[in-house]
Amino acid sequence: MNKTILCIGAGYVGGPTMAMIASKCPDYRITVVDINPQRIAAWNSDDLPIYEPGLDDLVRETRGKNLFFSTDVEGAIRDNDIIFVSVNTPTKTFGAGAGMAADLQYWEKTARQILENAQSSKIVIEKSTLPVRTALAMERILNSQANGISFDVLSNPEFLAEGSAIWDMENPDRVLIGSRETDRGRQARNAILEIYARWIPRERILTTNIWSSELSKLVANAFLAQRISSINTISALCEKTEADVAEVARAVGMDSRIGAKFLNASVGFGGSCFKKDILNLVYLCRFYGLEEVADYWERVVGINVYQQERFIMSMLTAMFNTLAGKRICLLGFAFKANTGDTRESPAIFIARRLAEEHAEVVISDPKALGNARLDLAKIDGVFHYREDPYEAAKGCHALAVMTEWDLYRSLDYEKIYEQMDKPAFIFDGRNILDHKRCFEIGFNVYPIGKPPLTHFEV
Ligand code: NAD
Ligand code: UDX
Repeated sequence: MNKTILCIGAGYVGGPTMAMIASKCPDYRITVVDINPQRIAAWNSDDLPIYEPGLDDLVRETRGKNLFFSTDVEGAIRDNDIIFVSVNTPTKTFGAGAGMAADLQYWEKTARQILENAQSSKIVIEKSTLPVRTALAMERILNSQANGISFDVLSNPEFLAEGSAIWDMENPDRVLIGSRETDRGRQARNAILEIYARWIPRERILTTNIWSSELSKLVANAFLAQRISSINTISALCEKTEADVAEVARAVGMDSRIGAKFLNASVGFGGSCFKKDILNLVYLCRFYGLEEVADYWERVVGINVYQQERFIMSMLTAMFNTLAGKRICLLGFAFKANTGDTRESPAIFIARRLAEEHAEVVISDPKALGNARLDLAKIDGVFHYREDPYEAAKGCHALAVMTEWDLYRSLDYEKIYEQMDKPAFIFDGRNILDHKRCFEIGFNVYPIGKPPLTHFEV
């Protein structure tokens, strides 16, 4: 088999994963294609379409040598026999399953495009996150013509998290490859395994049947999100009882059976994956008649909405039951630190709800202001955008920390306090600030899941 790889879909997954493979496998020629010409132009420029620490260096090292970005989807299909597909699979917004099921139109278009343009047998790898048993549909489409060409479909879900994608891909907990347990399936699996084995210890490369692989991706995201919703429910209880959620999370997480990660209470989880993938799981469960199972997982998303609404209600109550005409500064808009991605960011919900309360919202973020403008373009309200957090906070009544950017930990809060309206408030949606210090400066401080520190008489 030729040492050439194609990836269809040059997004947050396709671009970085292929740059990593290009770097680790210099003898492979890798092409990444997309139907979006602006995105491809950006991948070919010095201003990459996504911000991800370490990505610029990786692309600079490989682009033009063994990594190429192109819009020629059809030509690339003809020229490559290993095809990763990492197109978007968002939640369906129309018809049956709207708001719940995965929208597979981009996926199916890609399958048909592969079929139309293939002149030799191909291994097609699901990199996108998909409902379990999608590979069967893919196989049926690809093998619908008796043209002597055969297709092997594999599942190789991606577990990278944004903001740490390069590190995650270099040191993954595991790589998962699902295949049919046939000779051809095993052969195809070995071709992909060989690529990852260049830098990943063999014992971390898991091989499973194809359905387990597809389902494991949905389940991994559901479990991660469930931990966040679980600790967020406890944050609500802590606020009623003077317990401290960080102390509880530490005590609970030190139990090695539970583990310490993903127990940071927050304003809520965001990102393009968690909600979409849980809803996808819920839809599948309902499809198979498993109503109780579906209800259980759906609550994880319900609690995430509850947590965001709780944050708004806490602001409203603390600020004397009216936000109208008040100026609120959102520190951060990205759904997490070290990315410019704002998909499903809790900041969107908070900004919208503040606007509904007739507050004026000033948004600051080091990497996400462009996306923030797009997200809020259709929402009625007064929104200002200031990259400099000191400028953003000037004249505001409150700061609300939306993203755990390191830079917010070390701002000069004394200087910020002086330039704010009094009484000045901090609502720390990420629990990253030094609350005691901010209180001593004069702020009234409202963390998540900890007693507030206020200068008001009870
Ligand atoms: P994305 O929207 O950033 O990128 C998808 C790209 O596919 C877009 O640029 C789009 O133009 C392109 N595309 C769509 N149809 C196409 C076609 N027919 N031909 C060529 N290109 C086409 O999405 P993403 O965040 O990279 O996610 C891709 C998949 O990976 C999704 O299924 C997602 O659930 C999964 N995933 C994402 C992450 C993440 O952190 N973003 C992590 C793991 C898995
Ligand atoms: C997630 C999965 O982690 C990754 O394996 C999968 O491939 C894609 O989906 P991502 O959404 O990029 O990755 O970031 P993640 O670090 O999981 O954070 C998701 C959201 O949860 C963010 O909004 C983050 O701030 C929030 N979060 C995370 C918490 O609120 N508390 C935590 O303890 C951890």
